[in-house]
Amino acid sequence: MARQGGVAMSSPAEIGAEWRRAVALDRLRRDGKAVAKIEGKQIALFAAGERILACNNRCPHEGYPLAEGTLAEAPAEGACTLTCNWHNWKFDLATGDNLHGGDNLRVYPTRVVEGEIWVDVADPPAAERQAQAYEHLRAGFEDDDYDRMARELARLAKAGGDPAQAVAAAIEWSHDRMQYGMTHAYAAASGWLRLYDQSRDPELRLACIVEAVGYISFDVAREPSYPFAPPGPMWDAAGFLAAVEAQDEPLAIGHLRRALAEGNGFAELEPVLTEAALAHYAGFGHSLIYIPHAGDLIARLGRRVEAPLILALARALIYARREDLIPEFRAYADTLAQWPRSLPSARRRPGDRKSAWRLGRSDHGGGGGGRVSRAAALDIPAAARRRFAQSAAVRHRLAGED
Ligand code: FES
Repeated sequence: MARQGGVAMSSPAEIGAEWRRAVALDRLRRDGKAVAKIEGKQIALFAAGERILACNNRCPHEGYPLAEGTLAEAPAEGACTLTCNWHNWKFDLATGDNLHGGDNLRVYPTRVVEGEIWVDVADPPAAERQAQAYEHLRAGFEDDDYDRMARELARLAKAGGDPAQAVAAAIEWSHDRMQYGMTHAYAAASGWLRLYDQSRDPELRLACIVEAVGYISFDVAREPSYPFAPPGPMWDAAGFLAAVEAQDEPLAIGHLRRALAEGNGFAELEPVLTEAALAHYAGFGHSLIYIPHAGDLIARLGRRVEAPLILALARALIYARREDLIPEFRAYADTLAQWPRSLPSARRRPGDRKSAWRLGRSDHGGGGGGRVSRAAALDIPAAARRRFAQSAAVRHRLAGED
C-alpha cells in the first residue's frame, strides 16, 4: 500500500466486495468533511490531519447529524475526538468509543483508490453485534435508561438476536436484587411476552420487550445484590413450609436450593409454593397470582430463568404481608377453613360481575385494581408502542441505518 501526502493509497485490486466509493479525496481535503449516502446509510467523512475517518452520520443517541459536530484533534497523541453538539456526547473517531455519554459510534475503515475515498461497509459478524448489544443493554439496564434499552434492543433484533431472551437476561440480572422478592415487574413481563408473541408489528413487539425489561430495571435500580443462602442439607417440603411460616429466609431458601440441586423444577415445586401462598392470603393474593406468572415465564423462556424465578418467588412468599392478621380480613381465615365446602355458595350471582369490577377499581387500596381501570382507559399496547416510537432514534436502527 503506497502513501501520498500521509494518506494510504490502495490499488483497485485491494478493494473487497463490501467496499463502496464515497467521495473524491480532493473534495474532502477542500471541505474538511463530507456526507456520502450509501445503500440507505449516511456516512460522514472527515479529513483529520493526514487521516481520513468515516463514521455513521446519525448520532447513536438521537440521530442528529454528526457532520455538524465539532472535531478536535490532538495530533501528538494521535487522538481525534468528535463531539455531537446536540447533547455533548464525545466519540473517539478512530475507534468509535464513546468518551462521554452512552452508545458507541459505528466507524468504517477507509482507503483511497485513484483519487476516490472508499469505505468498507461490511457489518461485523452477527454474533459479535449481538454480544455487544447485550453488553450495552446491561449498561442501560443498570442506569434504568429506557431510551438506551430501546436502542440496544433494536440493535439486538437487527443483528438477528431473539429479543424475548433479553427478558430472561433481565431476570438473571435482577432476581437477587429484589430485597423482598418477586415484584409486579416479573408478573407483568409474562403479560408483555404474551403480547409480543401475539403481535406481528415489529415496533409493538419490541415495545413489549422494552416495557418488560424496563420495568424490571426500574424495580432494581440502585439496589445491591441480596445473596440467597446456599443449599441446605436436605429437601423437605414440610420443613420449607415451616421455615416460610417462621419467616426464616436462610432456612427456607436452603431447603429450596437443595430441592433445585436434586433436580426438582417448577413443576415439582409449584404445589408447595402454592400452599405457602395460600397459608395467609399473603400479599392480598399477589403471592398466589405470582405463581402462574412465574410458571408462564419459565415455560416461555426456558430453564435459564427457572431457579432465579423460584428463588425470587420464595423470597416474596416469606416476606409477604399476612392479610389474615389484619382485622378487616380476619373473616378470610374462617372462609378458608370452610373451603371447599363453601364453594357452592361462592358461585356467581346476578350482579357479581359489577361488584367485582367496583372492587377492582376502588376498594383495592390503589394496587392492581387501579391498573386495571387505567389499562382499559389507555389501551396499554398502544401506549407502549407510542412510548417506544418516541424513544430516541430507534426507527432508523430497525431500518438498519445504524
Ligand atoms: S448527543 Fe448526539 S443526538 Fe444527542
